[in-house]
Amino acid sequence: MYTFEIDDNAPKAQLYDDLHSAALALVDGEPDGVANMANVAALLGQYLPRLNWAGFYRMVDGELVLGPFVGKPACIRIALGSGVCGTAAASGETQLVDDVHAFPGHIACDAASQSELVVPVIHEGRVTHVIDLDSPELARFDADDRAGIERLAKTLAGRI
Ligand code: SME
Repeated sequence: MYTFEIDDNAPKAQLYDDLHSAALALVDGEPDGVANMANVAALLGQYLPRLNWAGFYRMVDGELVLGPFVGKPACIRIALGSGVCGTAAASGETQLVDDVHAFPGHIACDAASQSELVVPVIHEGRVTHVIDLDSPELARFDADDRAGIERLAKTLAGRI
């Protein structure tokens, strides 16, 4: 069992530093990508408040396929360019969406989701995965969340 101390009152930058350190400690030296995604999904759920879903989609044969996550069962396959995840995967660009209902083509896996942050994981020039965070609050994610998850995505590239 791994236990991490989580300071709920820590400033956001500190929270992401701690999350990053915990993720690194878990994935370092572990070559199994599924195990690493599963542990990082658990950390995202533990460290980040006000989420209803957090996890991974993997690029498999030109489409996104569901990976390890915490939250309700979700859409299994997402076409490139479709929804927030497919847009992030197709463009290689982070998608920070304050109101998912205003995002053309948003895919509602969990009706509770109001805002979403999707960050591509890029390894050797190709998008291999996306990290997807959903919140039941409008505009839950800001530039600090974006920076924190983008840093995590860089660390995970080639390890998941
Ligand atoms: N809302 C996403 C689909 C994935 S779920 O949020 C887990 C989208 O529009 O791509």
